[in-house]
This record gives sequence, structure tokens and C-alpha cells, in this order.
Amino acid sequence: MNLTIARARKGGNANPRLLEDWAVIPAHQANGSTSPRTTVSAAPQQTWPQNKYGANMTIDNLKTPTVALGTWAWGDSGETGDGYFGSHLTRAGLEEVADKAHAAGFTLWDTAIVYGMGRSETVLGEVLKRYARSDYQLSTKFNPRIAGTSDDPVADMLEQSLANLGTDYIDLYWIHNPADVARWTPQLIPLLKSGKVKHVGVSNHNLSEIKLADQILGEAGFRVEAIQNHYSLLYRSSEHAGILDYCRNQGIAFFAYMVLEQGALTGKYSPENPLPEGSSRAKIYNGMLPQLKALTDKLASIGQSHGAAAPDVATAWAIAKGTTPIIGVTKPHYIDGLVRASSITLASDDIAELEALADAANVNTRGFWEQEM
Ligand SMILES: NC(=O)c1ccc[n+]([C@@H]2O[C@H](COP(=O)([O-])OP(=O)(O)OC[C@H]3O[C@@H](n4cnc5c(N)ncnc54)[C@H](OP(=O)(O)O)[C@@H]3O)[C@@H](O)[C@H]2O)c1
Repeated sequence: MNLTIARARKGGNANPRLLEDWAVIPAHQANGSTSPRTTVSAAPQQTWPQNKYGANMTIDNLKTPTVALGTWAWGDSGETGDGYFGSHLTRAGLEEVADKAHAAGFTLWDTAIVYGMGRSETVLGEVLKRYARSDYQLSTKFNPRIAGTSDDPVADMLEQSLANLGTDYIDLYWIHNPADVARWTPQLIPLLKSGKVKHVGVSNHNLSEIKLADQILGEAGFRVEAIQNHYSLLYRSSEHAGILDYCRNQGIAFFAYMVLEQGALTGKYSPENPLPEGSSRAKIYNGMLPQLKALTDKLASIGQSHGAAAPDVATAWAIAKGTTPIIGVTKPHYIDGLVRASSITLASDDIAELEALADAANVNTRGFWEQEM
């Protein structure tokens, strides 16, 4: 499902980034269609009659795609990667990934300054140089855990990300974790006002932290526009904690990360063919692969009936739940899977069966950086 985030603002306002009103519209509803896959291409600047204060407005649209592209593993490429994934990625291979993604219309790239400690951002920036900046969107994150001691650590970290990515603005800037919401959230406001950051979201925040962040931004005329949390068949804490419902009701985009549990839900890895030896993800997932077999077999068999593969069905499940999955893309042919996933409509019986098998696997895939929701 495509979501159109329509941000409306006062025409002629001295601060063009000050939000006055906004809405997230499923593209198929905006188009009056019943098909969830109908995409509406709204004009970037469209005249809008009046806002709630009676002022003339324009709307500034950020389209939330059906699927976003994850690049944590890209931090492993080259000699200085952190080895979390144990991936051996080459510049040429990643350029091929980017070319395929862009040809298929997937253009929102998610990274973070901590992925490979700047390596993911740098490699991504280099690879995307082949495109006009307006042809792709960048999503990266401020991380409170590595904040410096200057007067303005958020602005300083943003500058570092801009330099790494070779750009002068970020489309979606996140607070990566909720270390101290009252301390860090206000520091996003000047970045929004300056235009260096176009939209903001919070990641790994629980519901009360999301509401607090939204209140802080709201007092300055902005708001939390997106949530990014771990959400997969195996890890549905944001659903159980009411965050998905909250996002739906408030019109906030929910970006689901680790939908494939870093490869463990693809069916590609098994006790006979485990995740890469010595990598961090191998330590987490290899021991649970036997318990995941019934689920990955079911993903594969549902996939067969759609001419698709197990990871495509896991991705289609996340789309069916109203989220935008961020899928870690390390190989060009994975883009074909995203295209297939985008066109699969899962039956409600299949969704129920997958979730029952996921619960029966009885594994806890909470990341070391995540809190209970
Ligand atoms: N905000 C946060 O705290 C946070 C935390 C984690 C992740 N994220 C974001 O979410 C993104 C996604 O998470 P992730 O990359 O950790 O894990 P993921 O998307 O669950 O899994 C990615 C891995 O799955 C495998 N894969 C992907 N597509 C496949 C396909 N079609 N067929 C077979 N295997 C496939 C690849 O493994 P191989 O390379 O081994 O083939 C890839 O490295 C990250 O890249 C990052 O941008 C955010």
C-alpha cells in the first residue's frame, strides 16, 4: 500500500517548514480506488484552499513507498565494516542493487550513522551519486548513544551524516533510540526550520515516548511523522503495544524493520547452511533456525501459489499489516523479490496461519538495542 503524506503549510509563511496541518492518505483512497496498489503521483506543490486558520496553503508531499531499502549491511562493505552481517559486498554489486531498485521505482534508502560507524552512509552516498538528488530519498538517524559534548550534538551529527552522504538535506531524519526524549527531541526543531531535515520520525520509542516526542514537536508546529520499529512475523511487540493502531488512527507512517529477521526468515539459511560464521547475526539466529523451519516452509508454500519466494511473502505480510517494510538489500536479485512482494495480496487465513506458526516457534528476536514495548 502506498501512503501519501500530505503536509500542508501556510502560504507565504516566513518559515516554509512550519506545519499547519497534514494528513497521511493511503494512495488508493486518495485516488478513490479500491486497489491498494494504485499509486497516486501528487504534484509536488499543489494549491490547497485554506487551512484551519483560514490562510491559503500549499501542500508538500512526501510519498511513503510500498517498500523502503535498508542498508545496515552495507556498513560491512570494505575493510572497515563492523562485520555485523558477515557480508562481503562490493561497490560494483551495490551499484547494481541501486540500479535495479531505481528501475523498479524503489527510491527511499534507510541508513544510520552507526551502521559500520559511517561506512554505510558513505558507501550509500557514493553509490547514489549516479542519480539526481531529487530522484531518491534519504532516511538516516541521530543516535543519542554516541552524541558528542558540544553545544549542539544533534546538529553536529547531522552535519557528519550530510558529509558522509554527500548531500545538503535529509528527507527523513530519525532519533534512533529513546535515550532521553525530552532532551533530544527539541533539538530536531531548528533542523526542520533550516530545511536541512524535511521530515522527522522516532525509532525504537514506545507509545508514551512517541506521544511525548509528538507533543514536544507539536508545540513548535511540527510533529512526529513516522515511526520505525522492529516488526516481523516473529516480533510483533509494536502491534501488541498498540503502536500500529495508534499510527493508523493518527495517520503516522509505520516503517517496519528486520521483517526478514536479518535473513533467518528467508528460508535460505538452515542448520546445514547457517548464517555467516563469526558474524553477529549468526550468533543470534543460528541457534533458532530449527524452530523456524515450519514457518519458513509455510512462507515458501504460500509463495509458490503466488509465483514468489518465502522472503517475498514475509514482506507481503508486513505490507498487509499496513506498514512500510524496510528490507535490507544486499544482492541485485532481491529487488525482484520486492517487486513480487508488492503485488501479493495475502488471504486472511494465510496471515493467521503464518502468525500462529510464528508464535509456535517461540523465539525471542528482540535486538540488544531494543526495549520491551
Ligand atoms: N531503527 C533501527 O534500530 C533499525 C534496526 C535494524 C534495522 N534497521 C533498518 O532496517 C533495515 C532492514 O533490516 P536488516 O537489514 O537488519 O534485516 P532484514 O531486512 O530483516 O534482512 C536483511 C537480510 O535478509 C537477506 N535478504 C534480503 N532480501 C532477500 C531475498 N529476497 N532473498 C533472500 N534473502 C534476502 C539478506 O541476507 P544476505 O545478505 O545474507 O543474503 C539481507 O542482508 C536495515 O538495513 C536498516 O536500514 C533499523
